[in-house]
Amino acid sequence: MPVALYVILPVILALTLIRGYREIKWGRCKSKSSLHGRVFIITGANSGIGKVTARELARRKATVIMACRNIKSAREAIEEIRQSVTTGQLIPLQLDLSSLASVRNFASVIIKDFPKIHVLINNAGVFIPIEENRTTEDGFEIHFGVNHLGHFLLTNLLLKKLMESAPSRIVIVSSTLHEKGNIEFDNLDGKKWSRGKSRMNPGYNNSKLANVLFCTELAEKLKGTGVNVYTLCPGLVYTGLFRSTPIKWFHYILFAPVAFFFMRTPTKGAQTILHCATSEELENESGLMYRDCKLYRSKKSVEPSVSKQLWEVSEQLVGLKTD
Ligand SMILES: NC(=O)c1ccc[n+]([C@@H]2O[C@H](COP(=O)([O-])OP(=O)(O)OC[C@H]3O[C@@H](n4cnc5c(N)ncnc54)[C@H](OP(=O)(O)O)[C@@H]3O)[C@@H](O)[C@H]2O)c1
Ligand SMILES: *[C@@H]1O[C@H](CO)[C@@H](O)[C@H](O)[C@H]1NC(C)=O
Ligand SMILES: *[C@@H]1O[C@H](CO)[C@@H](O)[C@H](O)[C@H]1NC(C)=O
Ligand SMILES: *[C@@H]1O[C@H](CO)[C@@H](O)[C@H](O)[C@H]1NC(C)=O
Repeated sequence: MPVALYVILPVILALTLIRGYREIKWGRCKSKSSLHGRVFIITGANSGIGKVTARELARRKATVIMACRNIKSAREAIEEIRQSVTTGQLIPLQLDLSSLASVRNFASVIIKDFPKIHVLINNAGVFIPIEENRTTEDGFEIHFGVNHLGHFLLTNLLLKKLMESAPSRIVIVSSTLHEKGNIEFDNLDGKKWSRGKSRMNPGYNNSKLANVLFCTELAEKLKGTGVNVYTLCPGLVYTGLFRSTPIKWFHYILFAPVAFFFMRTPTKGAQTILHCATSEELENESGLMYRDCKLYRSKKSVEPSVSKQLWEVSEQLVGLKTD
């Protein structure tokens, strides 16, 4: 008993305090205004951070279009959200970002059926071991194709609608791992990577850098239109993102301390997305990155010419420009 009293209890208390302190530092979205009449699109809203974002927006009475590749999974997510939140509108719509045809089809449904779109949240993302050599339906490297190109095309197809709905926003979910990325114009298909078993994933890192550069360039192009653009890192969040990565039992043990101090619940992970999508504080800002519900200064510096070139190459690859 004395041991428990004098050693174990203080340790538990200290750990709880540290965890609590970290949770405060992660920040939360302070905006609580009603979103009644505001229309949001969230890609990948059936799982992880996207699902919580949909739930919290509906709680504030928003109309949320849940753009998911599996419509059944989207309906299940809605059923789950409806057990705790009854306000707002949740609309499932099919979108597969690994198919340019699907992106075009989704955009045409939106343009036809929805008079206004106020916020587009590009949240969907994949992290797949590169030894699997996965490509999209159109033959792009899977991370570049889904995380960047699919969203690039989607955003461009919806720009006119977003401008007509101004003041409006585009929120791009990236990651601080973008700092480890590079835009390899001579290797966008990833054919030059060594594809052995490795936990390194240049494909993911590079696609998250592409997200950040897309934000920068898009903000530049949208100056004066009333459409603001934000990119963000949600932090390390417990979701299904690593479902394709084989994880062994000892990884769990090694990773446990990291998880305890650094891993957020999806509800905490969604806060910076909600901040960028709804905070009145950000109404005059565009083209910047956020983390923990505040401005984040990226350690990655990239020549502006790289963002411009990435834009042009992406336009060609998705068929927005054909010369
Ligand atoms: N979790 C983290 O620690 C972390 C850290 C930094 C950044 N992020 C970013 O946060 C975002 C959300 O990820 P998450 O952690 O919430 O992971 P998640 O639970 O795996 O959610 C990812 C979502 O993307 C969807 N998706 C995947 N491929 C798609 C496609 N081809 N078309 C349409 N949707 C597709 C998934 O749909 P299915 O359910 O059908 O697969 C799922 O809804 C990602 O952009 C990720 O890069 C996450
Ligand atoms: C992926 O490609 C590499 C060669 O680039 C090959 O050695 C490997 O077997 C392939 N993996 C799969 C799952 O097809
Ligand atoms: C990409 O990020 C991972 C973390 O997932 C890191 O370990 C790795 O070094 C990075 N890969 C490259 C090629 O920079
Ligand atoms: C944004 O700019 C307008 C016009 O300059 C100003 O009235 C408003 O207070 C600003 N909003 C914020 C949150 O700084």
